[in-house]
Amino acid sequence: MSATIQVEAVSKRYERTREGGATEQFAALDDVHLTVPDHEFVSFIGPSGCGKTTLLRIIDGLIAPDAGRVLIDGHPVSGPGPERAMVFQNFALMPWATVLENVAFGLEARGIPRREREAIAARYIQQVGLKKFAHAYPPALSGGMQQRVGLARALAVEPKILLMDEPFASVDAQTRYLLQEELIAVWQRQRQTVLFVTHSMEEAVFLSDRVVIMEPSPGRVAEVLEVPIARPRVADEVRRAPAFVELSNYIWQRLRQTIRAREEAATGAAAGAD
Ligand SMILES: Nc1ncnc2c1ncn2[C@@H]1O[C@H](COP(=O)(O)OP(=O)(O)O)[C@@H](O)[C@H]1O
Ligand SMILES: [Mg+2]
Repeated sequence: MSATIQVEAVSKRYERTREGGATEQFAALDDVHLTVPDHEFVSFIGPSGCGKTTLLRIIDGLIAPDAGRVLIDGHPVSGPGPERAMVFQNFALMPWATVLENVAFGLEARGIPRREREAIAARYIQQVGLKKFAHAYPPALSGGMQQRVGLARALAVEPKILLMDEPFASVDAQTRYLLQEELIAVWQRQRQTVLFVTHSMEEAVFLSDRVVIMEPSPGRVAEVLEVPIARPRVADEVRRAPAFVELSNYIWQRLRQTIRAREEAATGAAAGAD
C-alpha cells in the first residue's frame, strides 16, 4: 500500500510584519517540484523556516498552495484524505484517552465498528511494541513511547502515505536510534510512501532512499540526493559504512553554506546599504 506523489510548481506566500509595523509578503515555498514514486522513503532537511512543514501540510491537504498543485496517484489534492496520515513532533495524543483509544480514534471517523477498531488498534500497538501499555494513558508514558503511539495511530488507518514532521525531535538521542530502527522495520514490511522531515543528517541518510535538501528565502528544493545504501539496512553496519559517513558529511557541508549565506544576508540587511 503506497502511492505516487507529484508536487507541481507549488508556491505558498505568507505575510509578515516588518519592524515598524508594515507588512510584506514572503515566499515560504517558491516553485517546488518533486515526484515521489510508490514505496519510496524520502527525507527533507534544511534550516528552520525553509518551508518543510508548509510543504507537508500542503501535501496533507491542510492548507492550499497559492500556485501549483499536488497529485496523489494522479488525483489533485483538495483536502485531507484517508490515504494520508501525519505523525507530529509533539505526538498530539489525547491525554484523557488510553493508548488503545488514541490509536483507534482515526478508525471511528471511518465508521468502523468498535470491536473491529479495537482489534486493528491492538495489532498496531503490538507492532510498535506497546502491547503491555494498551490501557495506559499517554502522560504516564515516556516521550519515545508516546511517539510509538503516534506512529501506531497513523499506521492504524492503513495509509498509503505517511507524513512525518520531525517525529523524533522530542526524544533523547538513544531513544531516537531505537525509533529509527523500529520505523524502518515497520516500513520494510509495508512500504508506504514516506515523507520524513528531520534536522539530522544521519537520520535522513539512514532512513531514506532519497534526501531532499531545502533552502530558505524563498523556500526551495536545493538538491535531491540518492542514498546508495542497500536494504534491508542493518543499523550498526550502516552507521559505520563509508557511503553513510560521506553522504552525511556532504549534506552538512551543503547546509552549512546555506546557513552561512543566510546569516551574512541578515547581517548585511541589518548593517544597512554598504
Ligand atoms: N501560518 C503562517 N503565517 C505566517 N507565516 C507562516 C505561517 N506558517 C509558517 N510561516 C512562515 O513560513 C516560513 C516557513 O515555515 P515552515 O514551513 O514552518 O518551515 P520549516 O518547517 O522548514 O521550519 C517560516 O518563515 C514561517 O515563519
Ligand atoms: Mg517545521
